[in-house]
Formats: sequence, structure tokens, C-alpha cells
Amino acid sequence: MSILFDDNRKTYTIHTRSSTYQMQLAPTGHLLHLYYGRRAEGCFDYLIRSRDCGFSPNPYELRYQREWSLDTQMQEYSGAQNGDYRLSAILPVTAEGIHGADLRYVRHEIRPGKYALRGLPAAFARDSEAETLSITLADAASGTEVELLYSVYEALDVITRAVRVTNAGKAALRLEKVASLCLDLPFGDWELLHFHGRHCMERQLERVPLMTGIQTVGSKRGMSSHQHNPFTILCAHDATEDAGECYGVMPVYSGNHKTEIETDQMGATRVVSGIHDEGFSWTLAPGETFDAPEALLSFSHEGLTKLSQTYHRFIRDNLCRSKFSNAPRPVLLNSWEACYFDFDAEKLLSLAREAKNLGVDMLVLDDGWFGKRDDDLSGLGDWYVNENKLHGGLAPLVKQVNDLGLKFGIWIEPEMVNEDSELYRAHPDWALTVPGRGPAMGRDQLVLDMGRKDVVDYLYAVLSALLRDNHIEYIKWDFNRGLADVYSRVLPPERQGEAAHRYVLGMYDLLDRLTTAFPDVLFEGCAGGGGRFDAGMLAYVPQIWCSDNTDAIERLAIQYGTSFGYPASSMGAHVSASPNHQTGRSTPLETRAVVAMSGTFGYELDPALLSAEEKNAIRDQLARQRKYDALIRGGDYYRLTDPRDAKRIAAWQFVAPDKSEALLNVVVTHPEANPRPLHLRLKGLDPDASYQLDSDARVYSGAALMYGGCTLDALFGDYPAAQLYFHKV
Ligand code: DGJ
Repeated sequence: MSILFDDNRKTYTIHTRSSTYQMQLAPTGHLLHLYYGRRAEGCFDYLIRSRDCGFSPNPYELRYQREWSLDTQMQEYSGAQNGDYRLSAILPVTAEGIHGADLRYVRHEIRPGKYALRGLPAAFARDSEAETLSITLADAASGTEVELLYSVYEALDVITRAVRVTNAGKAALRLEKVASLCLDLPFGDWELLHFHGRHCMERQLERVPLMTGIQTVGSKRGMSSHQHNPFTILCAHDATEDAGECYGVMPVYSGNHKTEIETDQMGATRVVSGIHDEGFSWTLAPGETFDAPEALLSFSHEGLTKLSQTYHRFIRDNLCRSKFSNAPRPVLLNSWEACYFDFDAEKLLSLAREAKNLGVDMLVLDDGWFGKRDDDLSGLGDWYVNENKLHGGLAPLVKQVNDLGLKFGIWIEPEMVNEDSELYRAHPDWALTVPGRGPAMGRDQLVLDMGRKDVVDYLYAVLSALLRDNHIEYIKWDFNRGLADVYSRVLPPERQGEAAHRYVLGMYDLLDRLTTAFPDVLFEGCAGGGGRFDAGMLAYVPQIWCSDNTDAIERLAIQYGTSFGYPASSMGAHVSASPNHQTGRSTPLETRAVVAMSGTFGYELDPALLSAEEKNAIRDQLARQRKYDALIRGGDYYRLTDPRDAKRIAAWQFVAPDKSEALLNVVVTHPEANPRPLHLRLKGLDPDASYQLDSDARVYSGAALMYGGCTLDALFGDYPAAQLYFHKV
């Protein structure tokens, strides 16, 4: 039993393998948070704060106990307008205009299995993998009922959280904020790790101390965004990769999000995370419910690497529903950087022939194959073939590619429309625009109102026909601008605040229907690179294009940041041409391959422009990729350096779960004259086992490699790289 209720002390205790989470019902009916941290037995109610703190009010029934205030108590899910001035987790507004909620206990239930959410992605559990605790709280004045849901994956060290709000009153109730979780930490010297960025430079790690006051990470772009990934970590000031306490909060959501962290007057910290509340509202008729997105919570007292590995495993095994999640993926050649919009069938067939000749598995036809699409000004929405480029349609091309022995994949951007398209001319009202003003344009395209059922049904019909009529084995689902002018033509004025979330629900509905109807098609997410790289998307698709930046050296930092939350098996990474199209930098082919191999591997260049020597090198890379594939996809990931501050090298490593093999990857980012030796200590090996290094057949003990380390041969030239493969003997 991972969830226990002690009726005497009114205490809920959740145990995972290495963590404990505890709550207690106060005599007032408020649900107090007691503890989340390293696994421990016993009751933590001695941590309850009892001190008169001036200007912190007391609940009415405790008005003479001035030391008891909601403003200083650790709470499980904070209300609003009830004397707790810290971050609110929920803000309901009644028809009479009552704002806020004072949430008190109603009932609880402990049941086997995992809860499900309506219309939202969520983790799943097999057999007895998870147990669920549901605690219902209510606010009498507003009729707001809040069901707090916790599914506990004891062996996996993950607690999933979600919130279901019901209008138990007699009139309409408007929700202006509903967080997925609130987490109070009574003490500690925490630092925030968050992953900011921009197009072509996603998920850059920043580690900052918490200030007294509020720090916020979020997106109002209608997408999880290049700028602020929803995943955040709080870790102890002295936490490292290998030691120290850290908490991960991973929203399973792809739209507007906000994680707020407040350190209060008493030095306690509160984290509130969920849908961004700006512009959000949701109206519930009596009896209706609203599900807030899930968040995945994990705690490690063994540092950041352990926390990352927990998320990697969980995403692969318990979040992603695709049959490809734990399966080998085809190595692909993508047409984008090879020819952009400039191709015809003959050009694609020559790419396919070259790809086959190199040993690649699949040709992916990127943007430009449909409608009147010769540049990025027109055609989006018209998901029928561009006959000017591909005479005779898609089917003959797919057949010829298949006849060469290659799979065929294709690019789509279903949520978008160009003004210059048949779809927009037929349905201008399907786009998100505000009546009376010109819409903000992004890449000259508009966003379809995915909150409309007719739009989603239309897209499902068109895209399922595309998949049915053509032997397409892979879809790259792109999304190249954020939302603006979020105004839906089908929602009444008082419900316009629902449009952005309804958009995400509609997008999930389409993704769910297509991935369910076509389980054998491999879907890859994309949003102008990695602008929608989040756990919500990863519930449906096993891989996401990590960034439009394919420069191997810049990718080191992008993939490093991404690795804190997301597994290598989810990171789309390709070898592209040199000099690189985004930075103009020249890097060796081997370096580009070593970096791309730590993701879902492919090429994005024109092989006809390669020398015979380079083609042979690619054949060798493909052989290595196939050999290391299972290790990289399913292995434990170790960050050995931070590629941004390590003066000279980026290094990272994969170790098989049974410790039978390991792959060490090194890239020299700052070559030096007369260099000092490159020395690295490996991690995660079996100290008592012997490992043989593939390249020179030398045998080392696991302990020697981890404690003594290994010295690499000097690497010379521009950005050289090495891959060292060890296996147990
Ligand atoms: C953005 C993607 O990230 C690129 O890989 C490419 O597919 C373009 N869109 C096509 O428009």
C-alpha cells in the first residue's frame, strides 16, 4: 500500500520507493501539507507552524488562537480571499460576484489504479503499478468542490497530480484560475532550475536562487513555447548532479502555462503550477466539472541525474502511448534542409536513391508538397498534393520510394491556415481573429480555432484520408506560430476566456483520434523546432523535433537542457550540412553524428553533395547507431559536464539499465594548443564488473572507470568528437 490514511491523526501518507508525502486534516477541515521529501516513517505534524504572526488573519472559529493562520500554515491546495495572502491555487467567482474560496474537507477515497482525465493527456498504469488518492474539499459560500487527485507510482518515484472542480452550487460558477498543483515546502534554501530560450535556442538551463517574493515561469503563446518550457526543478542550494534534494514539477500540458514560486515572510516556499490564468476563465453550470491538466511530481535526494532518469523512464513507459515509445525508430532523411521548398518528384527520388544507398530507412518529405505552396506565404490548410511539383499525386511517389526499399514520411501543419488558401477562402471564420482588427500574423499564417468541433472533424477527415490513401509511415506535425487574437466565433462573450484551453483540448482530440486510428504511423511533434516540447505532446508522440538549430555545437546546450526532463528517445536530432545553415559554423561530420545520435537519429542534407569519403563515414555512423540504439533509447542518461561552462568539452554518457554496456560521448568545444589530457570519470557502472573498451579491446574494472576515470587520446582540429563504447566482459 503506497497510500495510508490514519484516522486518529487524520493524516494521509504517500510513500514511493524513496520519497514520502504527507498531509493532515486540521480541526477546521483545512487540508494541511506536512511533508514531501526523503522517505521517512512517522508523523510530521510537529512541523505545523504555530506562531502569532502579525497581520496574518485567523479563521473565524479560531479567532482567539492567533497563532493559527492560513497565511502561515502549509496548505495542500490554497484558496483565495480566505486570509492566505500567498499564491492562490484556485479563484472561483460566483454569479453574485463572490470571489475566492475557503476549502474544507468533504470526503476522501483510496482506490487501486490510475485516474483518467477527460480530453487531456495523462499518465497510465499497468496492473497494480499505481494507486489513487482522491480528497474532496469544498467552499460553502461559492459551491466550489475541488477533488484533489494523486496517483502514486511507488516503484517509479512519481506522484501524478490533477484537480477536478465541480460546481456544486445552484447558479453558474466562473473559474478564473485552477492550478494543477500547489506544493508548500516549509523550509529550505532552494534554487530554481528552469529552461528558457528562443527559436533555435530552446531549453537553456538557468539556475537561480529563490528570492523572497514571487518568481514566475510561463507562456501566454498558446503553446508551451520556445521561451519557457513548463518543466521546472527546485533543488537545494548545494545540490549537484549526484547529490542533494530536488523536486521536479512537469505539467502534462501544451498550452498557456504558469508555474509560480513564492518564498513568503516566514521563509517557506509555495509552488503553484497549471494553466496560465491571464485571459483564462471557465464557466461551470450547476453540476458541471472542469479537469485541470495533470502534473508529474518527483523528488530525488540523490541529485539531478536521478531526478532526470526518473522522468525519462516515466515518460517512456507510463506517459507515451505510442507503440514506438520503446521501439527502434527508422533513421530518416528529411528533405527540409536538403531542398526547402525547391523540389519536384525527380529531386525527391534522387534523395531517396541516395538515402537508400547510404542505408537510411525512410525519406521524409517536409513542407511544400501540398496546395499552392512554393514558399511560406500560401497553401497551409490545403492538404492535397501540389500537382505542379508532384505530377500524378502522392501515391506514385510513395510507391517509387517504397520500391527503392525505403519508408515514406510526410510533414503537415494541421492547426494552421494561410489567407491565400482554399480553406481560408471557404471558411475565414475558422481562423482565430478578433472582429474589427487585423490579426497579428506569424510566418504569414493564421491559427485555426481548434476549439471548434467542426474544424477538428474536418481536419480529421482530411488527414485520415491522406493516411488511408497513401502508404505514409511517419508524420511530422509542425506548428509554426503562437496564438494571438484568441477569439472564437462560436463561443458566447462570457465564454471567450475558454478559447485558449478549448484550443488545446481540440488539438489533443485531433492528435488522439489520428494516433489511435493509425497506431502504426510514427508521429513526430514539432513547433518551429522545439516550441512545443512538453509532456502533453509526449503522451501522444514518442519524439519531438528538438530545435530548428542543427548546429552540433549549439545542439549540445539544447540537448543538455532538454535532458533534465525529457529522454533522449524523445529528442529529434539530425546531421545537417556543414557549414551549418543556421550559424554558418563548420563542424566535422563525425561530431554532427555523435551529437545527433543522442536523439532520434536522422540526416537533413543533400547526400548528392557529399564526397565518397563522407558517404562511407555515414555508412559507418549508421552501423554504430544501430548498435547503440537500444542503449541510447532505453539507457540511463548521465550528464558529465555542462557544455556551456565546461571550458573545453561536452561529455555525456548512457548506461544500460542492467549495466552491461555504456557509451561515453565527448565533443571538444574549445580546442587548445598543447592541450592538457582530457580526463573523465564515468558514472553508473557496476564497480565489480569488468568492461572492455571497443576501440582497443582494453579491459577496465567498473570501479576504475568511475573512480580513476579514463584519459582520452588528444582530439585535434575544429570541434572533434569521440564515442567510447564499453561492454561488460
Ligand atoms: C519548422 C520546422 O521546425 C522545420 O524543421 C521545417 O519543418 C519547417 N518548419 C518547414 O516549414
